[in-house]
Amino acid sequence: MRCKWIWFLLLSIYTVLPFKGFSAQEQPSSDTVAAQASNLLSYIAVNYGDAVSGGQLLNTPLYAFQRRHIDEILILVGRLPDRPGRANLEESLGVLREAIENKKSGAEVRRRANAIADRLAALYQLQRSPTYSLPSADFMMPVYQQRCASCHGNNGEGSSKGPDFSDAKRMAGFSLYDLYNTLDPSVDSVHGSDIDGNLSGLQRWALAVTVASFAVNHQLSPSPDLARRYPGLLGLPGLATSQPAELPQELQEALMWWRGHPHLIRALEHPLVRAVGLLQLAETDYRAGDSSAAYNKLILAYREGYRPLRPQLQVRDKLLVNQLQAQWHQLRSDLISGASSTEIIAALQNLRASLNVAHTKLEPPLSQRRGYLWAALLFSLALGLGLLLWWGLRERKRSRL
Ligand code: HEC
Repeated sequence: MRCKWIWFLLLSIYTVLPFKGFSAQEQPSSDTVAAQASNLLSYIAVNYGDAVSGGQLLNTPLYAFQRRHIDEILILVGRLPDRPGRANLEESLGVLREAIENKKSGAEVRRRANAIADRLAALYQLQRSPTYSLPSADFMMPVYQQRCASCHGNNGEGSSKGPDFSDAKRMAGFSLYDLYNTLDPSVDSVHGSDIDGNLSGLQRWALAVTVASFAVNHQLSPSPDLARRYPGLLGLPGLATSQPAELPQELQEALMWWRGHPHLIRALEHPLVRAVGLLQLAETDYRAGDSSAAYNKLILAYREGYRPLRPQLQVRDKLLVNQLQAQWHQLRSDLISGASSTEIIAALQNLRASLNVAHTKLEPPLSQRRGYLWAALLFSLALGLGLLLWWGLRERKRSRL
């Protein structure tokens, strides 16, 4: 049975580990409450399909658990500050609860739960992406072996005490953020404090990568063409916040591979997409009060993302290059001189928008792309004719012999 660890989980939840979000003494911040709700939504998205299939109950305790989760989520959302949009969120939660009560399909419940988690994150500006580049899966492997393997297996294969991370179908239901979130003891109490209580944010993100890598350890890397066509999934925040299960099959596999090998995808990333991603991280640093980290990311975005492509862009659109140069310089001096925060945030956002325009300017024009297509067609025709000729000549020679 796939969920053999569920008995272990139920036992620990009901006896040893009270749900932290509900203890009366603690007053968690609204960020934490939103993250707790998001965490429970991700468990519903992933586990519900094991509890119900084709309208039939497969696992009664797991199903009861899902129903408890949805009530807990409603309480958590009720505790969040009231904003335009919260009532809507609660309404969607009501629809999700009904879908669970009516034993609707796993795919429907998953889609609804993930969509609600996205809206919750947008409404409460939940930080769902790391503010640093992700290391390789090996980085936290020693810690994984020491603290996690006893329940999740040396190669993530799972055991009677913890779920299987090599099960690609199950893992596709989690975003990297969902995995990270389960390792934050203020959000999820499934692990005791001896397991993840003293990990830093970076260590949790790195462990999420280690966990995500087990399902794709023996898979080939996706085609670089996919990386070119979907740059948003390769960079942050797309890489951290997207649930592969919500994507078409070929992208699903690609995203799972990319997030298990973040150190290898940097080479595939378009430099301007990298620049935009770094500026997004700079904004996060700046909002958190760390201007020097924001400054370093700005310089990195300029050097590694924009500068190598400036000559090409100069040929396509001189005015845009002038505008970009001015924006980079202004932002740099604003950060050094400590201009007002609204000015700096607006400047960061405007620069990202200009870089996105630059990215589209560097795409080959449509006519040129059509030209390539015609050239390829003519080349195949010529090749076909050549082959026919060669074959005809050979046949003639043969019949003469
Ligand atoms: C004592 C056993 C145990 C240990 C040790 C343990 N886990 Fe878990 N872990 C579990 C159980 C049980 C769940 C299932 C929670 C659920 O689905 O509600 C879980 C869930 C998770 C999840 C959520 C994804 C999923 O498949 O449900 C992640 C990620 C995770 N563990 C990572 C880790 C990491 C990383 C470590 C080591 C730092 C670790 N675990 C150590 C028992 C354990």
